[in-house]
Amino acid sequence: MPVCISAVSGKGGAGKTTAVILIAGEYALQGKRVLLIDADGRQNLQEWWKRCEAKGNLPENIQLITAARQTTVQQLLENEANKYDVVLMDSPGQDTVLRDTIIAGSDIVLTPIQPNQDEIKAAGQAATDTAAISDKVGRVIPHANLVTRITMPARFLEAYRLIRPFVRNLQEGGYDSYLLETELLERNCYREIRNGYGTLQMLDLTESVKKARAEVMSLVGNIGALLTGE
Ligand SMILES: Nc1ncnc2c1ncn2[C@@H]1O[C@H](COP(=O)(O)OP(=O)(O)OP(=O)(O)O)[C@@H](O)[C@H]1O
Ligand SMILES: [Mg+2]
Repeated sequence: MPVCISAVSGKGGAGKTTAVILIAGEYALQGKRVLLIDADGRQNLQEWWKRCEAKGNLPENIQLITAARQTTVQQLLENEANKYDVVLMDSPGQDTVLRDTIIAGSDIVLTPIQPNQDEIKAAGQAATDTAAISDKVGRVIPHANLVTRITMPARFLEAYRLIRPFVRNLQEGGYDSYLLETELLERNCYREIRNGYGTLQMLDLTESVKKARAEVMSLVGNIGALLTGE
């Protein structure tokens, strides 16, 4: 059985597609067979994939399939997913029924949060949706908040300081929502890969790429710990 991870946030531009690519690259590097499901009609993942293909940078151990509809996602999860070790699903940055299907098919739901009020609200909504679907399917689906695009000044923003108490409140309210310890910084290399350079793990190992890779490795470690209930 593969591990199914989705990136969900009703806020556009939160960092879902970026997180999916970074995590996929790390698992692929570990030798895991990774399936990416692009369930966002705007096809950001697919666009990255095509650019990689054009530049001869398609990553090893990763396959990408586009799934525009609920039934396609369900069929993929039923018939294709078992050929892989990890399935990562990218979702649209809006409310859609497709999102419920994606959450229902997940072992963990990730919501990237940049430090601003709208994104925090969107994370609360994702936690609520995940809890509702957990109840419906009769299985606990943990919801993990991932702080991303952090700059040094951003750590002094009020919105940044609100993230921790916000997640604590969710937990006190009975939600299985967690704050991942690793934060993704705002990094050029996270943006650059979108231009067809494959995964982060395929970039030349400059000092900045080294730091980025350590960050992503740590993030994948956090996700693994949540999945094993640590
Ligand atoms: N940690 C980061 N460092 C630098 N740039 C980032 C980071 N995270 C995201 N970005 C940039 O922010 C923009 C939005 O990110 P991304 O496409 O991952 O968000 P999304 O949630 O998938 O958006 P959408 O809702 O439009 O699908 C992109 O240009 C991406 O390169
Ligand atoms: Mg996206």
